[in-house]
Amino acid sequence: MQILVTGGLGFIGSHTVVELIHRGYQPVIIDNLSNSNIEVLQGIKNIVGEIDLPFEQIDLKDKLAVTNFFNTYTDIKGVIHFAASKAVGESVQNPLMYYDNNLTSLIYILQNIVSKKDMKFIFSSSCTVYGQAEVMPITEISPRQKPVSPYGNTKTIAEDIINDTAMATDLQAILLRYFNPIGAHSSAEIGELPLGVPQNLVPFITQTAIGIREELSVFGNDYPTPDGTCVRDYIHVMDLAEAHVVALERLLNKKVSQKVEVFNVGTGKGTSVLEIIQTFEKITGQKLNYKYAARREGDTAIAYADTTKVNETLGWKATRTLEEALSSAWNWQENQKQHTI
Ligand code: UD1
Repeated sequence: MQILVTGGLGFIGSHTVVELIHRGYQPVIIDNLSNSNIEVLQGIKNIVGEIDLPFEQIDLKDKLAVTNFFNTYTDIKGVIHFAASKAVGESVQNPLMYYDNNLTSLIYILQNIVSKKDMKFIFSSSCTVYGQAEVMPITEISPRQKPVSPYGNTKTIAEDIINDTAMATDLQAILLRYFNPIGAHSSAEIGELPLGVPQNLVPFITQTAIGIREELSVFGNDYPTPDGTCVRDYIHVMDLAEAHVVALERLLNKKVSQKVEVFNVGTGKGTSVLEIIQTFEKITGQKLNYKYAARREGDTAIAYADTTKVNETLGWKATRTLEEALSSAWNWQENQKQHTI
């Protein structure tokens, strides 16, 4: 069965493509390579074998190209939509680029698939839609609040667009709200490839440990948390990839109880920045160069998921440990030294 994966050469997209193939699906990848590398395609094939893996370099803001794609690939039964810009700081500098890129592409895809019978849609949402949540852990019925960045706001608006579209058409969708995806495939053939200076914690740690960055700044050590540093819910990207396939199968097997279902995808466990550093040092045997710095604007002290709904309704649970996630991220970093700036 053919499944379109937009942004299929990106971090989460590429791992999901691998998982789809393992489960017997035929992914078709669209990616505009704006924040990914064509070499990822070979990385995927190095894992799954030299199979036929269709790839189309399309910018989803090109309406005609999107329509032509769907007129060509008529057997597609589902879409997993990852393609989006995701740099929080950049979105503050250039909000129009973010609203245009993340929402125009979504609208063009939806316009093309709503007329198709039984089309399934999975959307890459984020815990950022909860804003600065007051009650932990965060459940799916926690109120959505204004996200701290235009990037985050594109996720909230996208959820609304999908909801409204599903109410008016046959579309069935699942929104997956990710917490903090980290790690890499165990083969170290694919992983996270941040362009320039990483904004996210784990790529910054691995790049510091390997000598590309001099020092990690820990943003704030005076938060109301046990060790004063922020707490997040770090989920192994392969667990997250599996959640997408399980969600897809729920849609394909007509198990959904609403036209649009929402799931938090995390481990349910909070880990502080210091704990991440200590675990990383333990598994790699290295001392990480870090210092305490001022809080980063927009950061919330604590965010971790209540995973009851995703565990019970979707029948999915994160199984990989933090140690596995960090050691896979480290293996990946060591394996692709030559690619980083
Ligand atoms: C951010 C985005 C989120 C997105 C997620 C995954 C917001 C507010 N956050 O989450 O939407 O889904 O990335 O890409 O929109 N830290 C340091 N030093 C660093 C980098 C990070 O101390 O150099 C700390 C941060 O303060 C934070 C934690 O590490 O407490 C995790 O940061 P990061 O990896 O950037 O993820 P989030 O900000 O939680």
